[in-house]
Amino acid sequence: MKIGCPTEIKPQEFRVGMTPDATREAIAHGHDVLIQSGAGNGAGFTDEDYTAAGAAIIGTAAEVFEKSDMIVKVKEPQAGERKMLREGQLLFTYLHLAPDPEQTKDLMDSGCTAIAYETVTDANGGLPLLAPMSEVAGRLAPQVGSWTLQKANGGRGVLMGGVPGVAPAKVVVIGGGVVGTHAAKIAAGMGADVTVLDRSLPRLRYLDDVYGGAFKNQYSTAGATAELVREADMVIGAVLIPGAAAPKLVTRAQLSEMKPGAALVDVAIDQGGCFETSRATTHADPIYEVDGIMHYCVANMPGAVARTSTQALGNATLPFLLNLANKGWKQACEDDPHLLNGLNVHAGQLTYYAVGKALGIDVISPALALKN
Ligand SMILES: NC(=O)c1ccc[n+]([C@@H]2O[C@H](COP(=O)([O-])OP(=O)(O)OC[C@H]3O[C@@H](n4cnc5c(N)ncnc54)[C@H](O)[C@@H]3O)[C@@H](O)[C@H]2O)c1
Repeated sequence: MKIGCPTEIKPQEFRVGMTPDATREAIAHGHDVLIQSGAGNGAGFTDEDYTAAGAAIIGTAAEVFEKSDMIVKVKEPQAGERKMLREGQLLFTYLHLAPDPEQTKDLMDSGCTAIAYETVTDANGGLPLLAPMSEVAGRLAPQVGSWTLQKANGGRGVLMGGVPGVAPAKVVVIGGGVVGTHAAKIAAGMGADVTVLDRSLPRLRYLDDVYGGAFKNQYSTAGATAELVREADMVIGAVLIPGAAAPKLVTRAQLSEMKPGAALVDVAIDQGGCFETSRATTHADPIYEVDGIMHYCVANMPGAVARTSTQALGNATLPFLLNLANKGWKQACEDDPHLLNGLNVHAGQLTYYAVGKALGIDVISPALALKN
């Protein structure tokens, strides 16, 4: 199969769909890999790295799309890219179609087969191609939060780990899922005094069993949250209610009770944010102040560490990518129901129920699509 990887063109996107290592593996399985010149630059991979892995370097995106059977990307195809997709071509990338009727229509009109990273599942009920980005954002949260806490950035001037004789920062993590657990691990590793709040008792039991010595946990109620937030130097928002906007767990009124210069890091901002005063920011201008409290609310945190994020995403997508290329999408999806859950569009029809419901478009079952 000819696998094409164009340069990402969405603003502020520095990741790339295939690493040189993934390229080398695909070629070892007998496939051709076509990389757009410069596609890896943002993640620190040069054309020479890809050439050494055996790829052909292609001058333009148009040529990559024209020559490839499968397109591997990171972000949803932008309007110009969607025009280059064609019937029978396979697209493997993040799509997030539910809030995006224009993209959905264009993908259906193109006749392509589109498999979305974010709806591929695993045997534990998880989302294996979303998890790596949650891991990255979680681990980054205490790092950006500690920068926000520095005096010159408007913060409280508190060092995460304190020093001998001086208490460490108090960090509260709301939500103990993938983001929250990774945030808590890193904050605890920096020496902070960390408490994780969650509403799932099984999750709290897991955190207690595995990380009981490293950080505390507590059941998430409005009262417990208010008490911990009042004392906190840093609060990290990491809740998720699948399919719903994030609940507002810290109100504006509560800010006046907090320590001046404390930092709120709202990782859940991509779902609307879990602090009432959160609004999405960018890497170019990541922080702002409300009532003396510093807010960091970047909606695409993994972009800040594009190289690590590209490698983490590549590790997760590679087995699926190889199956798609080795077997063809139909056989690969027939053999793996979790990959079939990733199928969103095929031959002009929508195949993902939640997207159809959100956009009012008729859907056919993925199983039926396999027969078309
Ligand atoms: N900003 C970014 O760049 C970025 C990157 C990755 C993920 N995210 C977002 O981070 C959020 C968390 O993602 P995740 O992968 O950790 O999800 P997850 O499902 O693994 O974890 C969410 C946790 O929140 C808990 N929760 C739900 N309601 C709660 C409440 N009221 N109080 C306390 N805990 C509650 C759940 O029990 C669960 O353990 C999501 O909104 C995700 O989209 C943002």
